[in-house]
Amino acid sequence: MHTKVAIVGAGPAGLLLSHLLHLDGIESVVLESRSRQEIESVIRAGVLEQGSADLLTEVGLGERMKREGAVHHGIELRFEGQGHRINLSGLTGGRAITVYPQHEVIKDLVAARLAAGGDIRFDVSQVSLHGIDGREPSVRFRHDGQDREITCDFIAGCDGFHGVSRACLPASTRADFSRKYPFGWFGILVEAPPSSDELIYAYHQRGFALVSTRSPTVQRLYFQCDPADDVANWPDPRIWEELRLRLATGDGWDLKEGRIFQKGIIAMRSFVVEPMRHGRLFLAGDAAHIVPPTGAKGMNLAIADVRLLARALVEQVSFGRDGGLEDYSRQALKRVWRAENFSWRMTSMLHAFGDGDSFQHKIQLAELRNVVDSPPAAAALAENYVGWQF
Ligand code: FAD
Ligand code: DHB
Repeated sequence: MHTKVAIVGAGPAGLLLSHLLHLDGIESVVLESRSRQEIESVIRAGVLEQGSADLLTEVGLGERMKREGAVHHGIELRFEGQGHRINLSGLTGGRAITVYPQHEVIKDLVAARLAAGGDIRFDVSQVSLHGIDGREPSVRFRHDGQDREITCDFIAGCDGFHGVSRACLPASTRADFSRKYPFGWFGILVEAPPSSDELIYAYHQRGFALVSTRSPTVQRLYFQCDPADDVANWPDPRIWEELRLRLATGDGWDLKEGRIFQKGIIAMRSFVVEPMRHGRLFLAGDAAHIVPPTGAKGMNLAIADVRLLARALVEQVSFGRDGGLEDYSRQALKRVWRAENFSWRMTSMLHAFGDGDSFQHKIQLAELRNVVDSPPAAAALAENYVGWQF
């Protein structure tokens, strides 16, 4: 069969791209290696920038997000036992973030695509890309026990960091940029009421901690850990002890505990591939870049990429104009590097770098103090955190 755009991967990038193209009358097929049930249940990001939430609303995906998501107008930076509010909305002319889990965005997108008769193939395997240098590329894969091939005009590689698309960019024309961090995040989901009305990013000499939320009855917490650690080493009482130590304040603030029903460890890295295209293959989202989660940028970058890519594809397919596609990588990379910079700075400011380096500790405290005491520094953080206007 033939389609205009073959999309590899049904994460936020691939599904939103398919939806945006559909709104402009361009057909696509989405190929996903996991099951629908799996992609709709994996716990990942939680924070939508103002621009991401606005875009989802504009394209008809905002109804449940408005009802079930929570708009936050500030965040807290906590260090040396004291909290300091960063007034996101006050410092950015009224912009805010929406806490709405990624798997809920995925559910909304899958439902919208299927309701519109969209073609998503779940549980595909052996995906391979062909002919990206020529006029009619194709994607081969196995589905329902049969080998299949879809020819197309363009391929969108939206298959995440471990997908197959990025490897199709020839080594001779691409450059990879990366950084690994010597720590990971231990994430938990807890049945408990919120401990705070806004997210808390805490720096402590024992390591970073983050208090986030999912709903009035489910909370999301993270703390810095050894990336090679094992969840089995962390029985519940040890987790609560560590979180209490890192989040303690002098004013009687209380961490609400409850039943922990999910635990996991994620490694942290920064990564960018340039350019984000070769021939008729265009990369978007984690397939092209990774940020450490401290800036809450990953899903937002995926959304920003496909917004740009959808517009460029529409220009090409509907009006025969190539400019947008020619410029896609350069435009996308401007935002990507800005997010890389912000995520790296937040990560460096808020994590303990081990071995009790007291100079490093003092430098980080000075940086945090500067952010909370200097209105321009606070405004810069707020502007980066709520995201740059499209
Ligand atoms: P993915 O979501 O990775 O989707 C890629 C899809 O492609 C997957 O469904 C995968 O199964 C599929 N696939 C892979 N290989 C193939 C193949 N060969 N063939 C077919 N399909 C394939 N970001 C934020 O913006 N805010 C946050 O608060 C935030 N917090 C995070 C917290 C955690 C714990 C983690 C792990 C991440 C967080 N992120 C956050 C990052 C965010 O989750 C990712 O950046 C986002 O998922 C990227 O979307 P994507 O569509 O590019 O890739
Ligand atoms: C969440 C994840 C993040 O990476 C972050 O910076 C803030 C919140 C979350 O999962 O809720």
